[in-house]
Amino acid sequence: MFGRLFLLRGSTNHGRALIFDSRATSLHDSVILGGPDEPFAFDANAATLEYLTAGCAEYGDVWAIPPTGGSDSATGGGGLPIWVLNDPEAIHHVLTKRQPDYGKGVGFERVKMLLGDGLIVSDGSHWKGRRRMLQPAFARPSVGAMRGLVDECIENRAHLWEEHAASGEPLDVSDEANRLGLRIILRAIFGEDLALLDDRPGGNPFNLVVDTHERDLMFAMRFRQLWPVVREMIEQRRSRAGGGAPPRDFLGLYMAARDRDSGDALDMDGLVDELMTLLVAGHETTAATLAWAWSLLARHPEIQNELRAEVRREAALPPGEAKSELTLKVIHETLRLYPPVWMFTRQALKDDTLAGRPIPAGTQILLSPFLLHRRADLWEEPEAFRPERFTAAGAPAHRAAYIPFSSGPRRCAGDVFALNTAVQEISWGVSRYHLTTPTPEAPRLDPGVNLRSLEPIRLFVHHAPS
Ligand code: HEM
Repeated sequence: MFGRLFLLRGSTNHGRALIFDSRATSLHDSVILGGPDEPFAFDANAATLEYLTAGCAEYGDVWAIPPTGGSDSATGGGGLPIWVLNDPEAIHHVLTKRQPDYGKGVGFERVKMLLGDGLIVSDGSHWKGRRRMLQPAFARPSVGAMRGLVDECIENRAHLWEEHAASGEPLDVSDEANRLGLRIILRAIFGEDLALLDDRPGGNPFNLVVDTHERDLMFAMRFRQLWPVVREMIEQRRSRAGGGAPPRDFLGLYMAARDRDSGDALDMDGLVDELMTLLVAGHETTAATLAWAWSLLARHPEIQNELRAEVRREAALPPGEAKSELTLKVIHETLRLYPPVWMFTRQALKDDTLAGRPIPAGTQILLSPFLLHRRADLWEEPEAFRPERFTAAGAPAHRAAYIPFSSGPRRCAGDVFALNTAVQEISWGVSRYHLTTPTPEAPRLDPGVNLRSLEPIRLFVHHAPS
């Protein structure tokens, strides 16, 4: 594809290189972009975060990684350079303005093997019909009705916090957020039927998600064994379905959903894939957010105190009137600093012009909310934890520069559920306890599929002063 390449370094902003193909005759043959000379096999790992950080520092906010020429997914495939975007306008173009022209890309291929045609991995008209069909399940009234079950799950783990407050032993909040997060998402999916899973011989088979830290092939194989379990849960629910209103959990809402055009319900495979999508998309993301929020609050006792004052002030208000403004700002600032989905991909489906340059169909695109959220020219003191930079609605000065839930039509469907849950968990914890950290340093990053901490986050739990 590429003929002779001329590299002119340092001639533009950011010391960017210009790459010209001397035989360029069409859009497919010419790319004018800076970037390194060597290919790089990116993956969801620390080496890639390091590589992208260095690349953005050297080449600026739109650059390209040369192709290897192979069709291997990790290297992009198709012999085209992989574009790296760290520019809010260019990202807005891809995710929102021209969303139908950009598919999910290579980063979702492995997940696709697992989740089939589930919302998070599907594209085109299939995705569009599904999203329209399932959207009501994520609307405020539906997820608002799940508040009670979230509170129950939180209360069920209260004993653990109390034990740690009494013993003085640090609490592993990473593990705790993980276990509570699993209970919440399973309860949101299966409602009261969760008891059927808990009562199975050998315990709840979904516990493997929190009992295994590795995310290797062995895990994937064991995870896949959960599909028949979900199938059984659906069959049991169907066999009990009477004339009354269906339960308002995701299983009930998804079973009741109908395609707008055909009037069809989801078939068994569709239901299983969509319910497993909820688990995959909603569990570790929410758990990581909570763990990071606890860590940040422990490192910022003054904000923790302010938060406690807000929660206690609003506890006296009639139900539904609490605004939780500071709590929401704390969550947004946590998601800015530690976006669980720290990197994702897109693929150009058509020739287009992006950031003023021609981008050929087939080009893979990498973008990283983590890097975008820490751009020093867009965020004052980007490394600092300053919740007041947000409004409660999560709008910073430069809206397009904040994308923890992605943006545009493919924005996270569960964002309201995730934010509500985080508000409930933080409000519960901070109103009763004060957290302190044995180590003032920020935990080290483990940028895997989700952005977690390398070591468990262990914090001291004290009874909060009344
Ligand atoms: C803090 C927690 C969460 C974060 C940071 C997060 C982030 C994201 C991101 C970045 C995407 C889009 C990826 C892309 O554009 O390629 C996404 C999609 C999605 N998320 Fe979330 N998520 C969270 C929680 C949840 C929860 C709790 C649920 C379910 C209850 C959920 C369900 C989904 C679904 C179904 C999609 C696919 C939407 C579509 O493509 O139509 N997420 N999420």
